[in-house]
Amino acid sequence: MITRFTVMSPEEAADFVKNDDNVAFSGFTAAGCPKAVSAAIARKAEREHAADRAFRIGMFTGASTGDSIDGTLSRAGAVKFRTPYQSSKDLRQAMNTGAAPYFDLHLSHLAQMIRYGFMGKINFAIIEAADISDEGEIVPTCGVGIAPTACACAEKIIVELNERHPKEIRGMHDVYTPADPPLRREIPVYKPDDRIGTPYIKVDPSKILCVVRTNLENEGGAFAPVDEVTARIGDNVADFLVSEMSSGRIPASFLPVQSGVGNIANAVLGAMGGNAAIPRFEVYTEVIQDAVISLMKEDRVRFASGCSLTVSNPAINEIYGNLGFFKDKLLMRPQEISNNPEVIRRLGLITINTALEADIFGNINSTHVGGTKMMNGIGGSGDFTRNAYLSIFTSPSVAKGSKISAIVPMVSHHDHSEHSVSVLITEQGVADLRGKSPVQRAQAIIENCVHPDYRQLLRDYLKLGAGHTPHDLRNSFAFHHALNETGDMHNARFI
Ligand code: COA
Repeated sequence: MITRFTVMSPEEAADFVKNDDNVAFSGFTAAGCPKAVSAAIARKAEREHAADRAFRIGMFTGASTGDSIDGTLSRAGAVKFRTPYQSSKDLRQAMNTGAAPYFDLHLSHLAQMIRYGFMGKINFAIIEAADISDEGEIVPTCGVGIAPTACACAEKIIVELNERHPKEIRGMHDVYTPADPPLRREIPVYKPDDRIGTPYIKVDPSKILCVVRTNLENEGGAFAPVDEVTARIGDNVADFLVSEMSSGRIPASFLPVQSGVGNIANAVLGAMGGNAAIPRFEVYTEVIQDAVISLMKEDRVRFASGCSLTVSNPAINEIYGNLGFFKDKLLMRPQEISNNPEVIRRLGLITINTALEADIFGNINSTHVGGTKMMNGIGGSGDFTRNAYLSIFTSPSVAKGSKISAIVPMVSHHDHSEHSVSVLITEQGVADLRGKSPVQRAQAIIENCVHPDYRQLLRDYLKLGAGHTPHDLRNSFAFHHALNETGDMHNARFI
């Protein structure tokens, strides 16, 4: 019950936010994000612009957000800068035209960079809460993100108390902020279900400017049904992991799994759960998606630690309706812990992320379409890939009706290097890159992962170059050039 804090409308709360302020939002993906005050800030921006006054804010978030943050503020032309990850169509357009300056960061880095002072000051933290006590204990909703650091560093805090999220979810969060160097110690997570912090974010109550009451539902979309391609990718991943178990490289008890964002990642987890040769497993990840919830009900996933419940609305309602079953099986942490390199390496994660584009030597582009247009951002893929026990990338072998080969001679943007990528998997098959030279990797990728339409072209490319990594720099971007000139990579020709 709120006794101590002033209750305000979204408009009244938004009015505190001034042009040029920096605002940090709670949540991770659309899960746990505030909605009412951000939309009111966007309306304020529109009014200010109509009166010919400047109004733009700097925006820190956990990851992507719902439309009420990135959509409304980008459409209002109110973005001074944005970091660290997004997936909004409107914001993407503004970023790619330069209207919204964006910097793409590893998600585990942002909170500490804010504390180190690398990011400037935070004027306001806007936090969605399921509950708040007079002593300043804030229980987040279904995503944590950077909320603890945002609250610690912000001058003032606005709390959106959203009654769609039951107060009884207190206990599903584990809030822990590492000390900063030179005082930092080990992060004592030794198993996915280890709790090391508090079930709430403790803030100085005098920093809480106001509470805004809401009853708004989550803005996350539903997942696409599994299709033939995603099903084959999922089966290839599951079969590969089973063969790793048979050869003793994955223990019989299995290892915790991290799985990336999106439909492919959701389908891969579903396929793993459906494979009887894979034992009941644990998840230590960033986003907990619908497939994990289904697998928990089937007793195929024992426990999942993540940063958010990035699930569809039916799935969140199911979790909230069955808290007795789910509460001791799901745990949400700040992203600097869910994605922490130390913990990832210690637990020995099997990481499975999605590439936009790979090259024949095993380098991965996760972010830039055609090397220039930002899609979403690197997210946690770098945090997990670089530190995994076994790092896997998946992708359909072709995109846009096969006019694009996802595997090209040289990636047009470089997010994950050949040194960090262990295995590449498409619907065509599996390329195990471990212990292989660049040429051997290229042969494995071309013969096992590339779509048959593009295999001969890539075999021909491999013969053009010389050296340890035989690129031919005149022709490295022949596929991209053909796409730009003719709309189809099938027309690639080498000179
Ligand atoms: N060139 C151009 N477009 C391509 C492409 C390529 N090589 N490969 C895919 N695309 C297009 C698809 O056609 C699709 O377009 P559409 O939206 O117009 O239909 C779009 O990119 C998304 O592809 P899809 O196959 O649906 O993939 P996805 O939803 O699984 O997302 C990523 C893939 C790479 C964009 C997404 O996983 C991502 O943002 N990753 C980076 C962050 C990350 O890995 N986080 C996880 C860490 S925990």
